[in-house]
Amino acid sequence: MNRLLPIAGLLVAACAADEVDPCPNDLTYDNFGRGLVEQYCTGCHSTNIPSSQRNDAPEVVNLDSYVGVLEWVLEIHEEATPDVPTMPPGGGTTQVERDLLAEWIECTVIDEARRYGQEREQ
Ligand code: HEC
Repeated sequence: MNRLLPIAGLLVAACAADEVDPCPNDLTYDNFGRGLVEQYCTGCHSTNIPSSQRNDAPEVVNLDSYVGVLEWVLEIHEEATPDVPTMPPGGGTTQVERDLLAEWIECTVIDEARRYGQEREQ
């Protein structure tokens, strides 16, 4: 009978793991997003940077405002959150930062981008 106890413990642990909150950090633009983007992205992607100094970053991709982030959120997710990101071009973000970026985008920004898009269409 006692030999079953460790297994029961494992099952409890497995169930608990299933219930892990996917959005544990309450991340916002102000407490997280702006800082990350300003550290890693707006050196090239900003309305404040003259064309000649954008390092070929497309003129339309500007991340120096939350609206800019909303407009490009799916591309940001695709380029900047993988284990081997393609943005910023030379890398530089840590795994922890990329995980938090993915969490922020998946937990709030995608929904807000949808709402923002719907409002603009009205
Ligand atoms: C050193 C300059 C530089 C930095 C810093 C930089 N980018 Fe870029 N970015 C580029 C260039 C150049 C392109 C166009 C070529 C390409 O898409 O690879 C680009 C393109 C993009 C695009 C458009 C992709 C598409 O699908 O059209 C997005 C979105 C983007 N970057 C996001 C980011 C994010 C997010 C960061 C910060 C984590 C960042 N970039 C940092 C230079 C930069």
